[in-house]
Formats: sequence, C-alpha cells, structure tokens
Amino acid sequence: MAQTYKIAAIPGDGIGVDVTEAAEQVLHAVAKAHGGFQFQFTTFDWSSKKYLERKWYMPDDYVQQLQKHDAIYFGAVGWPNVPDHISLWGMMLPLRNSLNQYVNVRPTRVLKGTTVPLAQLQDNPKHLDWVIVRENSEGEYAGQGGTTHGHSDYAIATEVAIFTRVGIERIHRFAFEMAKSRPRKKLTMVTKSNAQRHGMVLWDKIFYEVAKEYDGVVEYDKMLVDAMTVRMVNKPESLDTIVATNLHADILSDLAAALAGSIGIAPSSNLDPTRKNPSMFEPIHGSAPDIAGQGIANPVGAFWSAAEMVRWLGNGKLDHTADQLMEAIENVTSNPKTRTRDMGGSASTKQVTDALCQEVAKIV
Ligand code: NAI
Ligand code: MG
Repeated sequence: MAQTYKIAAIPGDGIGVDVTEAAEQVLHAVAKAHGGFQFQFTTFDWSSKKYLERKWYMPDDYVQQLQKHDAIYFGAVGWPNVPDHISLWGMMLPLRNSLNQYVNVRPTRVLKGTTVPLAQLQDNPKHLDWVIVRENSEGEYAGQGGTTHGHSDYAIATEVAIFTRVGIERIHRFAFEMAKSRPRKKLTMVTKSNAQRHGMVLWDKIFYEVAKEYDGVVEYDKMLVDAMTVRMVNKPESLDTIVATNLHADILSDLAAALAGSIGIAPSSNLDPTRKNPSMFEPIHGSAPDIAGQGIANPVGAFWSAAEMVRWLGNGKLDHTADQLMEAIENVTSNPKTRTRDMGGSASTKQVTDALCQEVAKIV
C-alpha cells in the first residue's frame, strides 16, 4: 500500500492562502506521478483574520494537534490590522520553539529563466549557489526583555539576545554537516563579535571548537555581518554554506533572495533534526497585502519549499523525486509565458501552478 504522509496545512494570511493551495495541488500531482506515496492534508484556519474574531491565533493544544502530522506546510502570517509583533509571536515563533525546529535552512540559487539585478550574476548564474543555515530558536529572537514606563517620556525597553552553549553548538554542527554534504565543502560563519562582545564571542568560540572535528574535511572562514553583505554582492561565487544567528540570517536571506531574482522564489525549512516533532516548510516571503487577493502571487517559493518537504519526508529515499520536482519548476520558470509579474511575466498563480502540474506529470 502507498505510504500516506499526513500534512498539517496552515495557509495563514494574504498570499499565504493562494500559495499554500497551489503547493497542495502540486504535491498531489507529484504523489500521483510517483505512485509510491500520497498526501493527506488537514487545513488549520489559524490566521490574523480569525485572531480578530477569536482573540487567539492557535488553540492551547496546538502542539498536540500538530504532532499528529508528519510535516507542516505554512503560508504566511501577518496583516496590516494586527501589529506584526502580535502575529509573529502569536504563531510563527511559538511554532518554531515548541516544535524544537532549531534550524532554518534557506537555499538560494538562480533558477533558470530568472532576471537578476546584478549584471555579473546574469552572465554567470551558477556563481550564486548558497545554503543559509539560520539559528532558529534563540539569539536575538529569544523574546526576552520588557518595557517599563511605557506610556511616559521615561519609557525604557530592553531586547535581550540569548546565546546558549547547547543552542550554538547544535547549529554549528548542523551547518558543518550541511557544508560537508555539498560538493564544495565550504562554510562561512557570520558574526558581529567585534561590537557584541558576549553572546557573539561565545558564538565564535564554539564555532572553532566544532570546526576542529571537520579540519581537513570542510574549509571554513569567518565574516562580520556588515562585510558579509558586501561579499554577497561582490563575490557571490566565494560563498557556499553560510551559518548565522536568527537575526543576521533573517536579513541576509532576504538579500540572498533579492540577488537571486525575487523574494517570491525563496524557500525555507524549519527543521527539528531529531525528527521527534514535525518540521515546517514555508516560502520566506510574507502575506504581501499589496498584492493579496489578486491571484498574481509567485508560487515558486512555495513550490521549492514543497520540494524540500518531499526531501525531508523521504529521509534519503525521495531525493530523486525532490530533484525532479525542482527540474519541473525550472522548466516552468524558463518559459516566459509561465512567469508571474515579479519575474517579468504576466502569468497568474493558477497558470503557473497548472503548468507545473503538467511538467510534473511528464518528469516525475
Ligand atoms: P512580504 O514578503 O509580504 O512582501 C514584500 C514585497 O514582496 C511586497 O511588495 C510583496 O508584494 C512582494 N512579494 C512577496 N512575496 C511575493 C510573491 N510570492 N510573489 C510576488 N511578490 C511577492 O513582506 P512585508 O510586506 O514586509 O510583510 C507583509 C506581512 O507579512 C507583515 O505582516 C509581516 O509581518 C508578514 N511576514 C510574515 C512572514 C511569515 O509568515 N513567515 C515573513 C515575512 C513577513
Ligand atoms: Mg524574514
């Protein structure tokens, strides 16, 4: 009997809804073409719209509900009528924390047919092929801090970044393993330990401790985050795997997506490497209120995230299928008729999705 993967779908807000629907359609097409497995989706209506009605984003037993699934597929959360720190802390960050998804993996490369802003990359698209490994559980997004005298002229607010030995060690080890698994075996660690002299110094120290285990196997170097932005633009070919803190990687991965052509293309995986909890897959873009409801969102980031989900679920057995899905995605992006507006085309989300399903039927 075909294996059934149970997926919790959380479309969320704005274009999150459009691209999740598109990704589901494509995943069903992949399963049908492959024949060895199927997907069973359960959709959760957790969103900002519902929050305004119910005053909660997720029910108290959300962890138990989600743990019944093999993976989570997430769209985006956030809407102009809810402050962004409420929506992010109502759903995204608690999910990552309570499901022990301490790694966020963000691959970036220039997909076929993409127009990119840098001339040198347009001529040599293979010069950009990176995986950003983002610390996803602590650091600058640990949520510690507070506000005193908030409504007076004496307002004080603190935002405390937390760095733990366990948290740092496990992310560096994951990054070294990722670098080791890639052809170039090259890792760049991003830091700001010149100005931030406690947490970031520990971050660096533990990096070099872990690095000893990979001497002669993985080539590694260190970059201050500000200089890193320059290197990403000027010498993209000098980078391969990148490890950075929660905040730094958040920012650098948006830059990476822009260099690769569009924020609408970029995928991300929130992983619990122990596999005790379901991992979560989502495009890196947000709910895009400016284009929501128009049917024009680029679903490619959602499709690439779906391919990463297939890879993760297969745990080594579906790598070929995930690669075939990527090949199908690039056949679609190389055709000017099946590109959305952000990629210089005029196709709708639905047209791109239907075109990909046809490619999948041919390739997988
Ligand atoms: P955004 O990613 O939603 O949009 C930034 C710009 O990129 C907009 O002009 C948008 O139209 C465009 N864009 C994004 N995705 C696109 C796609 N797939 N196709 C075509 N164009 C696309 O970021 P923004 O505007 O900063 O945030 C909007 C809301 O989303 C906020 O409430 C924010 O908090 C939330 N957000 C949620 C995230 C998540 O759920 N993981 C991540 C980022 C933002
Ligand atoms: Mg971000």
